[in-house]
Amino acid sequence: MAGRDEYYNRAKQEGYRARSAYKLQQIDAAEDVLSHGDTVVDLGAAPGGWLQVAAEAVGESGLVVGVDRQRIDPLESDVIETVRGDMTEERTRERLRAALGVASAQPNDSRERSQLGSASQLAASSELSTETDEDGEVEGDSDDGVEGDSDGEVEGDSDDGVAERRTGEHDRGGDEHDTATVSTPERHERPADVVVSDMAPNVTGEYQLDHARSIHLARQAFETALTVLRPGGDFVVKVFDGRELSSFRSEVEDAFEYVRSLDPDASREESSERYLIGKHHVDAPVAAGERREVEIVDVGDDGDGVASVDGYTLFVPGTEPGETVSVRITDVKARFGFAQRID
Ligand SMILES: C[S@@+](CC[C@H](N)C(=O)[O-])C[C@H]1O[C@@H](n2cnc3c(N)ncnc32)[C@H](O)[C@@H]1O
Repeated sequence: MAGRDEYYNRAKQEGYRARSAYKLQQIDAAEDVLSHGDTVVDLGAAPGGWLQVAAEAVGESGLVVGVDRQRIDPLESDVIETVRGDMTEERTRERLRAALGVASAQPNDSRERSQLGSASQLAASSELSTETDEDGEVEGDSDDGVEGDSDGEVEGDSDDGVAERRTGEHDRGGDEHDTATVSTPERHERPADVVVSDMAPNVTGEYQLDHARSIHLARQAFETALTVLRPGGDFVVKVFDGRELSSFRSEVEDAFEYVRSLDPDASREESSERYLIGKHHVDAPVAAGERREVEIVDVGDDGDGVASVDGYTLFVPGTEPGETVSVRITDVKARFGFAQRID
């Protein structure tokens, strides 16, 4: 296991702004979250180590949008945009959505609404904030920084708003788990392929308080992910271990095909931090166990009947096109599901 100093020194030598860059590299190596051409959202991005790693992975055809309440010094990359703001504030979420080319929060199903919680969180402000600075407290907790520049105000330009770069349409096609042709009309509203969050609170040393504040930030990241992540997309979030972790993990499990927990080697040995990785965002209008009446409209490659529920594909073995059948949903994947005929 490499020590803290080793990662620090490596980051300096290899030009990464923070030793935490290696955490994202290790998470990606283990769980395959970053791909060429991806649109990646990086929450809690200062000083920019994860931005650098993500930009390398997505290449010139990708886009990486980083958000932090601290200023992020400009990076030499055409694919990186930064937004300065507090992710607990709706106006910052709006500015993030604007950077992604999405006008406002439009959760598109009732399941997601309930996951998002309070109505106030959903009440997206109608106008995009044009503020370029945060006047509230700045939490300088980024002790992973290599250059020691992340602890407070950094003087310089006021270019903290959304950068000018716009990629327009950004489509990398389906993920490797797709075996069906599935239409995703909400593609424009959910442009992100990956949402990563390394947000962390200022550590007080009081274990339960630090844990609770970390879970609060993780939940902000999760709720944001639900509004920008395409079906099938991945989510990575830092959490401090503690009693609320299992209930938070359950929430994430409801929205992804599966969730893994990782403690990267590059994390400090004494740290209680770990990362949850939600793989393949499920944005289905049906749930396992539910009963439905569906019309079979096509035949899949394996000979199963194919039904469409609000644009979501269901495979129903033992059915023929033209039939209307009662089914029980048996398995819900990110972009298609399976159902059993029960009539
Ligand atoms: C560990 S650092 C991130 C390091 C980053 N991943 C990198 O590789 O450079 C955590 C960051 O979360 C940010 N942060 C904490 N609370 C935040 C909030 N409410 N909104 C936005 N950023 C926040 C901090 O300002 C800090 O820069």
